[in-house]
Amino acid sequence: MEKLKHVLESQQFSREWLENELFPLAAKMEKIVKEQGVWPSCKYFFKRRALSGKRMVSFFYEPSTGTQMSLEMAMERLGGKVVYSSDHAGETSSIAKGETIQDTIKRVSAFRPDVIILRTPDEGMANKAAEFSTVPIINAGDGKGQHPTQAQTDLFTIKKEKGEIEGQHLVITGDLARGRTARSLAYLSAKYPGVKISFVSPEMARIGHDVKDYLKKHRVPFEEIYDIREVAPHGDVFYITRIQRERGGDILFNYGPPSFWKMNQEVLNLMKKDAIVMHPLPHLDEIAPEVDKDPRAAYFRQSENKLYIAMADLNMILK
Ligand code: CP
Repeated sequence: MEKLKHVLESQQFSREWLENELFPLAAKMEKIVKEQGVWPSCKYFFKRRALSGKRMVSFFYEPSTGTQMSLEMAMERLGGKVVYSSDHAGETSSIAKGETIQDTIKRVSAFRPDVIILRTPDEGMANKAAEFSTVPIINAGDGKGQHPTQAQTDLFTIKKEKGEIEGQHLVITGDLARGRTARSLAYLSAKYPGVKISFVSPEMARIGHDVKDYLKKHRVPFEEIYDIREVAPHGDVFYITRIQRERGGDILFNYGPPSFWKMNQEVLNLMKKDAIVMHPLPHLDEIAPEVDKDPRAAYFRQSENKLYIAMADLNMILK
């Protein structure tokens, strides 16, 4: 098994690593979790205690449910310990006294934890923290930068739901200028041949030029449109994202030309029978309540997959 140093951004991973290392290990982790309650085999017992003696510290400067819980739960399930977990790190750590995150990371590294989880509102902070850290860092979201473990989860979900990632037509909608999950997914899916992407958003919420430049460089066809109904009959994976209120998204959605980028019954009626609807969650009104009942709604299955990817990442970093 290839050792992993940090998890910082989607570009660092190769398709071969995802296909041959991460996804098979995540599938094994799913099996282990689902077999709980059955008398453990030796193999199961070994895996269960794989991270015994390892210590995690977890700093969340922004709110989270899925990412924080999946990583901390994964650590516990593998026999490791979460020795510090702050979900209001800006108020409860020395950041509140004015310390920089860089200094916090230097100090925490010296206590020799085995992994540091970091979610911050500052784009690029995870990469910066990794420069100062002697300990592996997992980027759990850096402002409007990236969310690499979410992108790993998203591709793992597409593989499970659709059988393969190659050749899929992704329709990525929402506040793409400020949404880190959309950005990380675009970067990571560009590793797969035949993928094409339709970005659906209002003009003022278009995906960043860094992503578009990367897609061009890697010859990934993409388009930018206003109306999800245009691509609804053609898309294979509909990745809906929310307005990033915490990053000023509300204001932008009140201006500019009209756009139709939400998922509802009208869009479902236009979609292929085997298409799927994904969302990194939490979702707001960009997914209408009736969508939950449709078997194509994969977002809660996707959310569950965060646990298996977290277990796989931790194994690859800490073993
Ligand atoms: N997808 C995601 O990052 O969810 P949380 O904010 O709940 O962690």
